[in-house]
Amino acid sequence: MTASAVHDPAGLAGPRVPVGGVTLPGEPPEFQRFISASRPLDLDGIDWDAIPAHALPDDVLKILAYMQDVESHTVVFPRTIFSQRAVDDELIGSFLICWLYEEGMHGRALARFLAIAGHPVAQRPKGRTTFMDHVDRTLTTLLAAAWKDFLALHMAWGAVHECTTIHAYQRLMQSNEHPVLNELLRRIVADEARHFGFYMWQAKERLARPATQRRVRAIMDRLYAPVGTNHQPDKLACWVSGFLFDGEEGRKAAERVDRTISRLPGFSDARLLGDWLARKVYA
Ligand SMILES: [Fe+2]
Ligand SMILES: [Fe+2]
Repeated sequence: MTASAVHDPAGLAGPRVPVGGVTLPGEPPEFQRFISASRPLDLDGIDWDAIPAHALPDDVLKILAYMQDVESHTVVFPRTIFSQRAVDDELIGSFLICWLYEEGMHGRALARFLAIAGHPVAQRPKGRTTFMDHVDRTLTTLLAAAWKDFLALHMAWGAVHECTTIHAYQRLMQSNEHPVLNELLRRIVADEARHFGFYMWQAKERLARPATQRRVRAIMDRLYAPVGTNHQPDKLACWVSGFLFDGEEGRKAAERVDRTISRLPGFSDARLLGDWLARKVYA
């Protein structure tokens, strides 16, 4: 039923039907900002029929397929990185439901784009779960059970991944002139920016204590890898990372990611993405 079809002569339903998630009285404004705009990716007006009329370089298609796979990989997270502490937290639990849905829709939108462009995503011969997912699940379960501030780590990690994703998509937009793809990516980036806002807000709050900062930094300095890379073949992950974050513009984008994350308490001298690239791509 559309808004105009609702019989509401007294106007009790209000002037418009909200499109996003429901907010509750008393919830923090940062959370309300996220949830009130949460919805499946806005595809209104995307000109799918025009996709085949514009060429795309093979490199860009290869990266799109990679990103589609990374977006779709979020489906495993309820069984791997969603800890008991996360689902028990009033705000983070609700956030993760919406976040997961939105990321899944990014994967589906990119799959649709690729199919219409003549490069459909192949069915996976085996299940989705990788060896690293088992590692993630074990580490998450053990760390979250033993450490009451575990969510500081989850939120800081999420902030870095969302920030990297935003810059990766923006670099991909700079690398091609396909009008439909770039409009789709612009809309995905708007979602990623909202995700980043939530993670950054929560990470800042939860990193207030110096002891928590030190522990989170120590873990991330040792184990951090850019979003998705642990679940992809190493050679492909390094090639994609080089395409996006090497060269003059790419390196500037990577520096912007690290500069943004340096605003987190205890992260002023962190160079997570830059150091990983120096080891794996620039070397
Ligand atoms: Fe996404
Ligand atoms: Fe995201």
